[in-house]
Amino acid sequence: MNELDALVEGARAAFEKAQAPADLENAKAQYLGKSGRITELMKGMAALSVEDKKTRGAAVNLAKQAIEAALTERRQALAEAELLAQLKAESLDITLPGRQRGAGGLHPVSLTLERIEAIFGSMGFEVAEGPEIESDWFNFTALNTPEDHPARSMHDTFYVEGGSEKAPNLLRTHTSPMQIRHAVQHVKRHRAALDAGQGMPEIRVIAPGRTYRVDSDATHSPMFHQCEGLWIGENVSFKDLKFVFTDFCRTFFESDDLVLRFRPSFFPFTEPSAEVDIQFQQGPLAGRWLEVAGSGQVHPNVVRNMGLDPERYIGFAFGMGPDRLTMLRYGVNDLRLFFDGDVRFLSQFR
Ligand code: PHE
Repeated sequence: MNELDALVEGARAAFEKAQAPADLENAKAQYLGKSGRITELMKGMAALSVEDKKTRGAAVNLAKQAIEAALTERRQALAEAELLAQLKAESLDITLPGRQRGAGGLHPVSLTLERIEAIFGSMGFEVAEGPEIESDWFNFTALNTPEDHPARSMHDTFYVEGGSEKAPNLLRTHTSPMQIRHAVQHVKRHRAALDAGQGMPEIRVIAPGRTYRVDSDATHSPMFHQCEGLWIGENVSFKDLKFVFTDFCRTFFESDDLVLRFRPSFFPFTEPSAEVDIQFQQGPLAGRWLEVAGSGQVHPNVVRNMGLDPERYIGFAFGMGPDRLTMLRYGVNDLRLFFDGDVRFLSQFR
């Protein structure tokens, strides 16, 4: 191996030995720097003849180029190694699922309430809301509910502070108090016309909201939803109730062959009273009667408590269970799923 080849090999080995860019720059200086080996060789050529200068110069130049190439190669290798080390240090597990921004959605029961409001809205019903902490008067007494009614007992109802000792406040057991609250407001607004014997526009309202009872199993929750309906006028009959409620159910379930049954029942605030059952003709529930609401013609005592003359004003009321309707619509078999707040369940309704 001639002296120049040995020089190139030496440089290559020195570069190879450098493990960091700074080491490499030191090694470079030894060969290509101002007083490096190549520079010295160049200087040493001054004494040579023109002819020798040519051949020697070409050879030294080749050696210089080879050293430069080795340097570049080593620089790239070091840079690459550095990048790899950095990537390894900051390693990302790209097999992990990304963090998604969850798209929210309405709760299935809220979807049902929206639907109920839209359908009754299209039939000219207003939407009213009222308090969940209710007085004995609105929840029971005004609704013609006698003192010894089971709903009034301690173990069926959540009583809270406030009210009188004989008539404590409570978490409303149904949305029916809204019948009275809304009607009283309505009557107040039309008091002058009523006093003048001119009558008033009909009361047509639904009142959705939360209700409470001491009850808990797969089909009962201590907190549940109800939606009250009330239509009072001078000539509103049970026939209208049947029409309105049938129309509602068929629209709600998008099923024209849905059958309704008004089964005689009892509520203190309606007379006559009926439980409303529906029957699907198709699907997994076909043929079964399913209770969806209580209903009836508003009792004269209740009409009187609204501030109206029961001889002139008559109408119907119903109270349905939006939770139940939601279960039927989506085929959910445990009511508690609605209130567990499990996103895996809730996200299916997005
Ligand atoms: N409030 C009754 C209940 O909770 C339902 C109902 C409402 C019945 C209106 C008749 C009229 O069961």
